[in-house]
Amino acid sequence: MGKVIAIANQKGGVGKTTTAINLAASLAVLEKKVLIIDADPQANTTSGLNFSPDDAGHRSVYELMIGKIGVRDALIQTELASLHMIPSNINLVGVEIEMIDAPERESLLRKAIAPVRDEYDYILIDCSPTLGLMTVNALTASDSVIIPVQPEFFALEGLGKLLQTIRLVQNGVNPALAVEGFVVTMFDGRTKVHAQVVGELRDHFKDMVFETIIQRNIRLSEAPSHGKPIILYDIMSNGSSNYLNLAREVMEKNEKHNR
Ligand SMILES: Nc1ncnc2c1ncn2[C@@H]1O[C@H](COP(=O)(O)OP(=O)(O)O)[C@@H](O)[C@H]1O
Ligand SMILES: [Mg+2]
Repeated sequence: MGKVIAIANQKGGVGKTTTAINLAASLAVLEKKVLIIDADPQANTTSGLNFSPDDAGHRSVYELMIGKIGVRDALIQTELASLHMIPSNINLVGVEIEMIDAPERESLLRKAIAPVRDEYDYILIDCSPTLGLMTVNALTASDSVIIPVQPEFFALEGLGKLLQTIRLVQNGVNPALAVEGFVVTMFDGRTKVHAQVVGELRDHFKDMVFETIIQRNIRLSEAPSHGKPIILYDIMSNGSSNYLNLAREVMEKNEKHNR
């Protein structure tokens, strides 16, 4: 059965979208069938995979959420054969207001993607930097959460609020939701505080922190403007090998889990 993983952190700019795109692409290159869902109205995943958010017009995650279209009408083929995407655009902000009184409003996404769930090995959901209704829908639809952490001084403080939201979802509509792991992003070995924060993270969360560390790599920040995941933009880069390693770690964890 397909594993659904939300990429979440209510802090902006920590590497959620970069992780969603490049983990998805790496899993696809490692012969997994992957769907990436852009759950952020900023639509950075959508444009980062070479699709114009304006063209998502009438068949984006917004129309899916409000029940205007079915999931198959929202699927887009990316440049990688086994990577599909459900795009987003700015209309998605409307969901927070329009669906506020909808019955079972937390489960709209879970229900919407149910028909295709088993057609994929992995479904990754790139969340917005909020803990609003759309992110709650992403957490409700998911089996687990990957939390990207940028190793800055206040990084750990913001995590409390996210973990609290995860617990709320666990205590409510999705008791099976697990934390897949914390992944350190934009790591710079020359920066003392980075090593310090990684140490604290490992002390606190132990083996819930992925062994793979994503280094700061300029190629990772360039790739989206070319509409490509790093693996198609510069396969020899550190960013490319970091995300391939993360994909292998995710696969290993889940194969172990299934045994
Ligand atoms: N490992 C990295 N090395 C260099 N730049 C990165 C890395 N990860 C992310 N970035 C850049 O940092 C910015 C924020 O990353 P992004 O993935 O968009 O974060 P979020 O989705 O959490 O807001 C983007 O400009 C992105 O290209
Ligand atoms: Mg983002």
